[in-house]
Amino acid sequence: MLKNKTIILGVCGGIAAYKAVELLRLLTRSGADVHVIMTRSAQQFIAPLTFQTLSSHPVHTALFNLIEEDEIGHISLADRADLFIIVPATANIIGKIAGGIADDMLTTTVMATKAPVLIAPAMNVNMYRNRLYQENEEKLRRFGYHFVAPVSGRLACGWEGEGKLAAPEAVFEAAVGAVTPQDLAGRVILVTAGPTREEIDPVRYISNHSSGKMGYALARAARRRGARVLLISGPTALPIPEGVEVINVISATEMLTAVMAHVDECDAVIKAAAVADYRPVTRCETKIKKQGDVISLEMTKNPDILALLGSRQRRPFLAGFAAETDNLAGNAEQKLKAKNLDMIIANDVSQEDAGFNVDTNRVLLFFKEGAGEQCELMSKAQLADVILDALGARLPTR
Ligand code: C5P
Repeated sequence: MLKNKTIILGVCGGIAAYKAVELLRLLTRSGADVHVIMTRSAQQFIAPLTFQTLSSHPVHTALFNLIEEDEIGHISLADRADLFIIVPATANIIGKIAGGIADDMLTTTVMATKAPVLIAPAMNVNMYRNRLYQENEEKLRRFGYHFVAPVSGRLACGWEGEGKLAAPEAVFEAAVGAVTPQDLAGRVILVTAGPTREEIDPVRYISNHSSGKMGYALARAARRRGARVLLISGPTALPIPEGVEVINVISATEMLTAVMAHVDECDAVIKAAAVADYRPVTRCETKIKKQGDVISLEMTKNPDILALLGSRQRRPFLAGFAAETDNLAGNAEQKLKAKNLDMIIANDVSQEDAGFNVDTNRVLLFFKEGAGEQCELMSKAQLADVILDALGARLPTR
């Protein structure tokens, strides 16, 4: 995503400056080449050496630097940037940029760059609500600057309210979004993920080995590409992808209710969840006691959510998964037809490096129109983009 991207990280003088260090780590870890510019007041809060060590580049603090003879520092940096991030951005710097002032290294480089600029403000709640500030932000938004809104909470100044710098992870996601083509902007995509749990009694359930990794990767990738993403998730241990709206469910029946409540808003539904096919006929209200050597459990069929969606007259684009241990292609194509899908992603869950609970996957894609595509082993994050490329190309234009 950010591999080999040149990013300028502008740091201003706010107490949240230390959080820019965490963001720098996230950026470099994902392969970006980061150059840091600090304002004079930022250096009151944190030493340039910290950023220098973690970015492996000297930190820019002065506009005019006699050591750089052969190029004009702020222009060459501005030209090379793929993305400019300002974290934390003070009311002062935002006011200066909005007013066209360029009187230090940071504001001059912002003025000179053609790269997208992402601003993460942090300030006192009254400064944040000040009309002057609000009008400056609005003007910059109109001009195409990106913002990561601050969050509410207890502020360093003692006040409670908006103005707290967004979490480094949220700024990171916004940074990825700012350099990712927004080909799914305006689309609503519903993703189901994870296993379902079918309760037997208050302490026991039937489930499967699904980790939710594929569905969460799809949700994250769709969000990065600009879609509004609804993630209906069975129980998983995964962190919620930034900017994704999550609805947590436990059983297949709950998943069905959640999917049906939102299907009419959606352009596409991707059913990556491993929904249990059967549930116990009755859920015992009290814990079942140990009895004889053998007990039997009567099970009844769960609704097939995907098949129900496929049978609707008006329906969004439907993508299903087929997790198989044998006859992969045959079973997948049969499911594509039987459930009236537009696309099916078939994976052989008997392989060690594909399917449930691993970070990689190797799949076959089949489409309603008859075409097929074999995908080599790749990370679930990469595969999510391959699936979304195929899906995006087939969504009806609006
Ligand atoms: O028929 P099978 O369960 O193997 O099909 C798998 C696909 O159908 C997956 O996309 C899964 O999310 C979906 N499915 C469903 N409701 C069920 C069972 C499976 O939506 N009850």
